[in-house]
Amino acid sequence: MNRQSELIPQNPKLEILTLTILGIETSCDETSAAVVKDGALLSNVTATQLFHSEYGGVVPELASRAHQRRIVPIVDEALTQAGIAKHDLDAMSAVYGPGLVGAILVGLSFGKSMALGLGIPFVGINHMEAHIFSNLIEDPKPGYPFVNLTVSGGHTQLVLVRNAFDYQILGETKDDAAGEAFDKVAKMLGIGYPGGPMIDQYASKGNPAFVNFPRPYLEEGSLEFSFSGLKTSVLYYLRKIGYQTTAWRVKSANRDGYEEFLSDICASFQAAVVDVLVEKTMRAAKEHKVKDIALAGGVAANSELRRRLKESADSLGYRVFIPRFEFCTDNGAMVATVGYMKMKEGRTSSLELTAEPSLELK
Ligand code: KG4
Ligand code: ZN
Repeated sequence: MNRQSELIPQNPKLEILTLTILGIETSCDETSAAVVKDGALLSNVTATQLFHSEYGGVVPELASRAHQRRIVPIVDEALTQAGIAKHDLDAMSAVYGPGLVGAILVGLSFGKSMALGLGIPFVGINHMEAHIFSNLIEDPKPGYPFVNLTVSGGHTQLVLVRNAFDYQILGETKDDAAGEAFDKVAKMLGIGYPGGPMIDQYASKGNPAFVNFPRPYLEEGSLEFSFSGLKTSVLYYLRKIGYQTTAWRVKSANRDGYEEFLSDICASFQAAVVDVLVEKTMRAAKEHKVKDIALAGGVAANSELRRRLKESADSLGYRVFIPRFEFCTDNGAMVATVGYMKMKEGRTSSLELTAEPSLELK
């Protein structure tokens, strides 16, 4: 299209010939940028802030400062890998919520400034909507309507995706998000942050029937989630057996025994979370008579959840869509993909748009 984009705000659903858009994601601890041209992903560059592990969780102020240091090289690298110059861009997009306000502001301000400097439109993106689009980046893609389960560090959401930009939230967590529960249990066990990948690793060698932790299904037929009770059960169990991270480790002179114990606890906890997530997703698919199911968010990287969701979906005749690992955790590709679709619909944002840390999916 090139420069035709200026017409888009006044011409909804304008037939766009060609469109190149850059997407930025900085809502938590990943600085990521990606380029999408005519619906095809040309690049996706992500820097994860590993230093938060020292503090046992994301430190918001440090996250913002790291985004500030990294945003220029990450955007440059995304353009280089896409083989384009910034003047080839027809539009900019960036996440404006939900997430950490200071972290969002870095990517959002950068995206808006680039749009202003280049004289191209800007599209503000909802982080949760972007996760849903992580299954629409590449083929094969789910067909509408589909049920999407987004499981991340901050959210657990079952969504009926009727069409692009047409969502019905079927269930959400009432307390901890699935990823948060993984992170908190890993912290109790003293195995590092982020906890999800560590628990996943230990669990792969463990016995899921070692402890029968409660499955929080809530009331009959509910599509809501609650993981704080399960997390507390793990805590009580560890207290009961006198587990104190270092003390227990020192006491148990047998290192192999300790590793085996950790694997069994992780596998038992993970099995409880996965049982609930899979069961409710299948229930939602059945109730809403969809053919396709999609999984998104950081916890979608969990190997047992991927395996079990696929197994259940296959046995019940649903098609299941799970993003590649690089599109599970926060990434620019999902942002640029929504941005591209919004541009095609003429849905641009004002440059007055500001960060909304508690932005909801509507
Ligand atoms: O979507 P995401 O990158 O950031 C948010 O928007 O929150 O998700 C991060 C979450 C963390 O809680 C992390 O522990 C979890 O995803 N996670 C996993 C795995 N990899 C990342 N949880 C379980 N198993 C994994 N393999
Ligand atoms: Zn996310």
